[in-house]
Amino acid sequence: MKLLVLNGPNLNMVGIRERGVYGTKTYTEMVHYIKEVAKERGHDIEVRQSNSEGELIDWIHEAYLKGYEGVIMNPGAYTHYSYAIFDAIKSIAPIPVVEVHLSNVHARESFRQTSVTAPACVGQLCGFGELGYGLAIQALEQAVQSLNG
Ligand code: DQA
Repeated sequence: MKLLVLNGPNLNMVGIRERGVYGTKTYTEMVHYIKEVAKERGHDIEVRQSNSEGELIDWIHEAYLKGYEGVIMNPGAYTHYSYAIFDAIKSIAPIPVVEVHLSNVHARESFRQTSVTAPACVGQLCGFGELGYGLAIQALEQAVQSLNG
């Protein structure tokens, strides 16, 4: 499958930021892990990161325009308030989007316990660190299979 991974604000700082929460692996190492899992499972994958909401929205649209079959998205803090990202995910239906968070957002501050973007997604994975991206690849395989009946 042709897959797109979109990481939102501050994820480029993984390995440096709040290591007790996000771990010590760098963003580059995390991207390497995602690409390895995708390769092992026979997928073409592109991994991008942006600190800008508009750029993330443009990339969601690009998933539709360029024929990506599934998207994995960690919207970072936009998760908790970006109705524009919710609308963008809705606008590319039926392309499945899986939301991923490195940390268990439900066990953290109350503002993190709401995701305004997850209702537009096929599902959400959180609390498993980079493994969440690997699991999301498997989730997309299933979602695409059920779409193709
Ligand atoms: C995060 C959780 C968000 O609440 C936070 O703003 C992030 C990272 C995660 O991956 O756990 O930037 O999306």
